[in-house]
Amino acid sequence: MHKVGIIGYGGMGSGWHPQRFEETGRAKAVAAYDINPVKLEKAEKDGLVACRSAEELLAMPDIDIIVVATPNNFHCKYSLAALEAGKNVLCEKPVMMNAAELEKVLAMANKTGKIFSAHQNRRFDRDFVTVKTAVEGGMIGKPFYIESRVQGCRGIPGDWRCVTAAGGGMIYDWGIHLLDQILWMEKSPVTEVYCHLLKVKYDVDDNFKLLLKFKNGLSALIEIDTYCFLPLPRWHVHGDHGTMVVDDWNCGGKIKKSKTLEMVWEEGVVWTEGGPTKTMAPRPRESVEELALPDVKTDVVDFSRNFLDAVEGRCPQLVRHDEMLRVMKVIDAAFRSGNEGICIKF
Ligand SMILES: NC(=O)c1ccc[n+]([C@@H]2O[C@H](COP(=O)([O-])OP(=O)(O)OC[C@H]3O[C@@H](n4cnc5c(N)ncnc54)[C@H](O)[C@@H]3O)[C@@H](O)[C@H]2O)c1
Repeated sequence: MHKVGIIGYGGMGSGWHPQRFEETGRAKAVAAYDINPVKLEKAEKDGLVACRSAEELLAMPDIDIIVVATPNNFHCKYSLAALEAGKNVLCEKPVMMNAAELEKVLAMANKTGKIFSAHQNRRFDRDFVTVKTAVEGGMIGKPFYIESRVQGCRGIPGDWRCVTAAGGGMIYDWGIHLLDQILWMEKSPVTEVYCHLLKVKYDVDDNFKLLLKFKNGLSALIEIDTYCFLPLPRWHVHGDHGTMVVDDWNCGGKIKKSKTLEMVWEEGVVWTEGGPTKTMAPRPRESVEELALPDVKTDVVDFSRNFLDAVEGRCPQLVRHDEMLRVMKVIDAAFRSGNEGICIKF
């Protein structure tokens, strides 16, 4: 049984991680450190050893895994310390504040030979697995434009997520999940990054659009909004043979596609108030078909199972070092683009 120590016994540290490890039947949270004494009391009540410092936790010899679940600006410091203490590390997302921090941590992981992984659990979200399965199965042909968005209307929780120095804002919070999903699905190099970044109600990015171009011709839009009462679909994916819509996390939606690869121009005109259009006229009904989205199975506990397998040397880790670095480099470019109003070319 692996023994897990947790740094940052908050929402993720006290809830999600201990439960997911428990569900594997192969790991158990045994100790925690948090700067907040109230959180330490909770850890004690939950049956964990409550450590008065990170050093005390990292010195516990029977612990082989450390989860870093603090606000984002502390991920680097604790990951380095944990690796140096000879522990395997599962670090919450965003794995670091920037690529330079990540490079330091990856160098330490390579030096110690310990596993270091980002917690990219949303690779297991059903909406994403649905899109990936449909795209990889060729259901809409070759994709040329992907829109991936989440739009809430409750603002940002009023904690460290509203503080720039703590790594607040939506690029780090949700953006990194949606970016990791797209970069995991699309291996072609990113060539251009443009970010339209807004601070609508907070002093951190609470609304942004991130446009990516890939070497193979694909483009992607990632959009996060925290003040939208009528959200657009979660996914809108355009391929050279059809279009896919996934409405939400429950995976309502459909695929609509052409029955032939070549467009045949029939007579068809739509009259609008201001005049006629052939270009925007609908296709004849018999030339298109609608398909149901693929029915996929996914289990987020597989993330924790994979992490433990990697610790045991039985398989590669799901979230690879080069994948984390690729994501962080795009995040760096997104901030630069958003702050300076420029397009970044790689
Ligand atoms: N992967 C996901 O789905 C997901 C979801 C939510 C949050 N997260 C990530 O998890 C991390 C924690 O988020 P949360 O929602 O649990 O936040 P939280 O505020 O609920 O918990 C953070 C905890 O860290 C403690 N803390 C703060 N500074 C500390 C320090 N210097 N040393 C030790 N402890 C410290 C706080 O007291 C708090 O208990 C963040 O990086 C966040 O981005 C990931």
